[in-house]
Amino acid sequence: MADKKAQLIIEGNAPVELPVLTGTMGPDVIDVRSLTATGRFTFDPGFMSTASCESKITYIDGDKGILLHRGYPIEQLAEQSDYLETCYLLLNGELPSKEEKAKFVGTIKNHTMVHEQLKSFFNGFRRDAHPMAIMCGVVGALSAFYHDSLDINNPQHREVSAMRLVAKMPTIAAMTYKYSMGQPMMYPRNDLNYAENFLHMMFNTPCEIKPISPVLAKAMDKIFILHADHEQNASTSTVRLAGSSGANPFACIAAGIAALWGPAHGGANEAVLSMLDEIGSVENIDKFIAKAKDKNDPFKLMGFGHRVYKNFDPRAKVMKQTCDEVLAELGINDPQLELAMKLDEIARNDPYFKERNLYPNVDFYSGIILKAIGIPTSMFTVIFALARTVGWISHWKEMLSSPYKIGRPRQLYTGYEQRDLPSGRD
Ligand code: SDX
Repeated sequence: MADKKAQLIIEGNAPVELPVLTGTMGPDVIDVRSLTATGRFTFDPGFMSTASCESKITYIDGDKGILLHRGYPIEQLAEQSDYLETCYLLLNGELPSKEEKAKFVGTIKNHTMVHEQLKSFFNGFRRDAHPMAIMCGVVGALSAFYHDSLDINNPQHREVSAMRLVAKMPTIAAMTYKYSMGQPMMYPRNDLNYAENFLHMMFNTPCEIKPISPVLAKAMDKIFILHADHEQNASTSTVRLAGSSGANPFACIAAGIAALWGPAHGGANEAVLSMLDEIGSVENIDKFIAKAKDKNDPFKLMGFGHRVYKNFDPRAKVMKQTCDEVLAELGINDPQLELAMKLDEIARNDPYFKERNLYPNVDFYSGIILKAIGIPTSMFTVIFALARTVGWISHWKEMLSSPYKIGRPRQLYTGYEQRDLPSGRD
């Protein structure tokens, strides 16, 4: 990184020199670590202009709508790779050789079952519990089962935990769905690939084992790829922060699941379908666009806008294309897709959205494909969490693989100055 400098001049004080660091791509960053010597902090609620770490995993160019995983464009990975190969790439930094991939796929297959006792955790939940509530609880509980791989300073333990999490998330996700349906949970099968296995555990029953549609399995795998990682988003930053205290990997991923659940983040895919239901028909679109623009109305156009992308989210483009393919293959004419496309067209031509660079994001079309695959709306964010686990654990591994400090932001305090308790209180 070049030795460029920035100067900070605070009235009445000598200029403070701060290093400017340059990455391989993207904006330079001003290294403010030495700022505490001036007795001052930076102030940046929401981290709008703060880089929290250095990373080599994913690069996003929000203006150009670029998303790279270890340098490879998301469009190429979605078209030419598969989810487990993308997992290997995110976790290890390079694409696997044929042998490496076969070994990796084999290792994942051999970790897809969960401990039989894990099932008893489900019985404490109501059948109509939101599946994300169950995911938070059950994934966090994994730390009670794998005492053999909780030493975060042991690279072998980190590796085993990463494999266990990537392998078990589909099983646990399908278990939450079966629990909500009152159906028996299905065991994973080693003769199916990752996406087929998930659909098998979701939709097959002990009474009838139907073959998995290759079209749906391919679409599912592509959705997993498109959700795998996305730089320092809210849930990934949560996982890094939890990991920086030395918490075990399962607790860190449970924290990531909790953060993802919010409708401003991963919960948006479920919220898009509810919003389309609420809009109901093309005639109502203008009314809802007006609501989205009204500062006094909390309504936002779900699936639109992004902290980083000020252009089209490249994942949304691939998602839209996949949507067309899956619906055509299945012969589904989904009125919600027509409504979504009309909403997309109207919003993108409206000055309010254009001035603010608000485009459809990854969540706008994903729900329509998931619905076509047969996934219930309440499971949409669970699918997001399943797919994003590899991104979370890749960042967790990257942070722990080199020197790090516990994350501990400071604040601008605007509360009371010191005062004494009133005397004579009874
Ligand atoms: C994900 O960070 C990631 O990478 C996340 C993610 C990932 O893969 O991990 O990409 C996944 O979370 C995608 C985003 C899903 N969320 C939604 O679709 C919910 C709807 N979108 C908004 O809540 C919002 O766009 C955010 C949260 C996504 C981004 O919010 P920011 O960056 O804080 O931007 P902002 O709220 O300050 O908005 C800027 C302006 C505001 O208006 P003004 O105050 O300037 O007048 O744009 C407006 C906002 O009111 N605005 C919207 C809007 N999104 C922003 N107005 C109406 N509808 C919207 N959707």
